[in-house]
Amino acid sequence: MPFYQQRGQLPAKRHTAFRGSDGSLYAEHLMGTLGFDGPASLLYHIRRPTQILKTCPVAPVTIEKEADYSVRMRHFCTSQVEPASSITLDRTPFLFNDDVVVSLVRPTETDQFFFRNGQADQVHYISQGAGTLETEFGELSYREGDYVVIPRGILHRFRLGDGEHTILNFETPSYVRFPSRYLTREGQLMEHAPFCERDIRAPEKLVAHDEAGEFKIVLKQSNTLTAITLDHHPCDVIGWDGCYYPWALSIHDFEPVTGSLHQPPPVHQTFQADQFVLCSFTPRMLDYHPQAIPAPYNHSNVMSDEVIYYANEKFISRRGAGFGSLTLHPAGLPHGPQPGKAEESIGGKRTEELAVMIDTFRPLQVSAAARDVEDSTYGQSWIEP
Ligand SMILES: [Fe+2]
Repeated sequence: MPFYQQRGQLPAKRHTAFRGSDGSLYAEHLMGTLGFDGPASLLYHIRRPTQILKTCPVAPVTIEKEADYSVRMRHFCTSQVEPASSITLDRTPFLFNDDVVVSLVRPTETDQFFFRNGQADQVHYISQGAGTLETEFGELSYREGDYVVIPRGILHRFRLGDGEHTILNFETPSYVRFPSRYLTREGQLMEHAPFCERDIRAPEKLVAHDEAGEFKIVLKQSNTLTAITLDHHPCDVIGWDGCYYPWALSIHDFEPVTGSLHQPPPVHQTFQADQFVLCSFTPRMLDYHPQAIPAPYNHSNVMSDEVIYYANEKFISRRGAGFGSLTLHPAGLPHGPQPGKAEESIGGKRTEELAVMIDTFRPLQVSAAARDVEDSTYGQSWIEP
């Protein structure tokens, strides 16, 4: 995130002696990106973050792709994914390419370890659930509808609250950011952006754990999981400042752009990454021209695969998809409303739809696991009964 935040205690000048009450130096730690040219923060630890007792390999991370891919409309029923214990280790990958992995997890337990993804930025869409994200930067509460963005390298753990959790996860080797057209040259969100800085939630509460002992971190790097044992609690930061930190934005704070005629998907864009965009479809007034057709026209997304996660059951142009549906409309095939949906939309004043869309600029592959929950009849749902 480009705008500056600070929490806790800080010395007046960076890179100067900063001591605790016992006279010992706090361990200054720069966490930055793009060499020293990207967003960065400075953290002050009670103990050095380098005090690693041991490391050991856990497992490689691989995704099995489906055996017999053919270009067709796809519909996966993610609600059929079985609950599993870990939000970090039990994700079911659905769609993937070199730019992004789209997976879903229904975790039941708080991890006993911390997690650091050293190879990817992560966006978690909290479809169901609430709790607290523990990080070195402090605690960040999350709830249904949040996008929780964890830039790479940030140690964290989701402390699950009560109730069922369903989390859609996007993992990318690129940098997740806001679309540049929403930003001034100086990096401020402009008036026409569908959200503003007040909607961005950085960690609210800095808790410095001054605890010696063995603490486990699982690191994902180079598509391998490694277990690291630190000799102290890793969340021991007494102060930090900078522009690199975990944050959340609620889909319910995305203020939709509407028009007299159908507005194209870029008005729904929320995030930008390399080779894909993420968009939010939120409840809104429908097109107000007296002859308007609010449902989208047929279109050929010639240069992108279009994936939609249905976060409720009210999508205006789709039949047969419900809460938890994940559809893939691949580049190369035109798509549009199913029979009757365009006519049905005329005269409509409002939609209550809630959905998350990812458009990738390079083709996605489908995992073998996705096939296990596929609705194979979806491709024929555009045929008149
Ligand atoms: Fe589309």
